[in-house]
Amino acid sequence: MSVRARILKGDQGIAEAVAILRCGEVVGLPTETVYGLAGDAFQPMAAARIFEAKGRPLTDPLIVHLPEVGWLERVARIDSLEQQIQVQQLAAAFWPGPLTLTLQKHPDLPDLITAGMESVAVRVTAHPLFQKVLRELGSPLAAPSANRFGKISPTTAEDVQIELGDVIPAILDGGACEHGLESTIVAITKEGFEILRPGPITKEQLSKYGHVVHPSGIVNTPGSLPGHYAPKTELHILETDIKSFIPPLKAGLLVLRTPDPEVIERYAAVEVLSPSGDLREAATNFYGALRRLDNLKVDIIFSESLREEGIGVAVMDRMRRAAYGSVNG
Ligand code: TXA
Ligand code: MG
Repeated sequence: MSVRARILKGDQGIAEAVAILRCGEVVGLPTETVYGLAGDAFQPMAAARIFEAKGRPLTDPLIVHLPEVGWLERVARIDSLEQQIQVQQLAAAFWPGPLTLTLQKHPDLPDLITAGMESVAVRVTAHPLFQKVLRELGSPLAAPSANRFGKISPTTAEDVQIELGDVIPAILDGGACEHGLESTIVAITKEGFEILRPGPITKEQLSKYGHVVHPSGIVNTPGSLPGHYAPKTELHILETDIKSFIPPLKAGLLVLRTPDPEVIERYAAVEVLSPSGDLREAATNFYGALRRLDNLKVDIIFSESLREEGIGVAVMDRMRRAAYGSVNG
C-alpha cells in the first residue's frame, strides 16, 4: 500500500487541517473516542469523499460533531419542550464527551449526511484539537470512525495512516484516544432513552436521567452490522476457562489480566487489556491490542469474555462483531 497522508501536528497542523476542510476535502482527526474521518457537514462533496474513502455504503448515516451545545440548532430541531429538557440534562451531564444523540434533522443539513433519514446523530466532542478545528472552520463536521468500512476503528494517527493513508490527504495527530471505543448512541423516544450502540457512557450513567430501554446493545442503528470492527485473522471468543484451554494452532490471546506463565507459553503472543482488571482501561486498549495481534500473522486469535457490566457491555458488543466479521466478512 502506498502511504501518502501527511501527519499534521500542533497549531500549524490545525491551520492546515482547517484549510483542507474548507476546500471540501477530508482529514483524519482525533476525538476522545476513536479517530474520525472529518468533512464539512454543509459541503455535500465532503460527505461524498468520506463515503468514498471508507468504502462505506451511502445508506449508513454519519455523526455530526459540534464544539458546543449552542451549535445544536444549526443541525437539529428539538420536537417538544419535554425533549428540550431531556437534551439539556443529557448535555449538561455528558457533553462534551462520548455521547451521541439522534434528533430530528435540520432541513438545511445535506441529506447525504443522514442517508436520507429524518433524524441526525450529533455529539459535542471533548477533544481539544477537534474542538479547535471546529471553531476555526466555523462549521459542524461529519465524521465516522477513520477505518475502511467494517474494519477495526483507529485509536492512533498511525492506525489511520494504515487504514486510509493512501486515500486521504492528511491526519492531525492528537496521540492515543482517551476512551478507545466509539461513543454511546442514544435515541430519545417516548419510552425513554434507547441505546442504539453501547459505548463509554453506560446504561447505569444514563439511567440517572431517565428510563433506559434496549440496554444490552442490540443491533439497531442503520450501520450496525453483526460483522463489524473485524480483524483479518479469525477471532474466537472463549467461553471456557483460559487456564484449561489448549489452542490448536499458532494462536494469539487477548485477555483481561496477565495470565499464569503456563498459559502464556501456549501462545505466539498475548495482549493484556488491563493488568488490574479495570474495564475502562480494557476498553481503551481493546482495538489497539486486536490490531497488534492481527498484524502478527498468527493463525487464529482467541479472546477471553469480559464481564458485561458498565463499559464491559460495549467492549463485548465490539468483540462479538469483530469475531463474527472475521469469520463471515
Ligand atoms: O465515537 C464515535 O461515535 C466516532 C467518533 C469519530 O465520533 N464516530 C463513529 O462514527 O463511530 P461511525 O460512522 O463509525 O458510527 C456511527 C454509527 C453508525 O452505525 C451509523 O449508522 C449510526 O451511527 N448513525 C448515524 N446517524 C444515525 C441516525 N440518524 N440514527 C441512527 N443511527 C445513526
Ligand atoms: Mg465506525
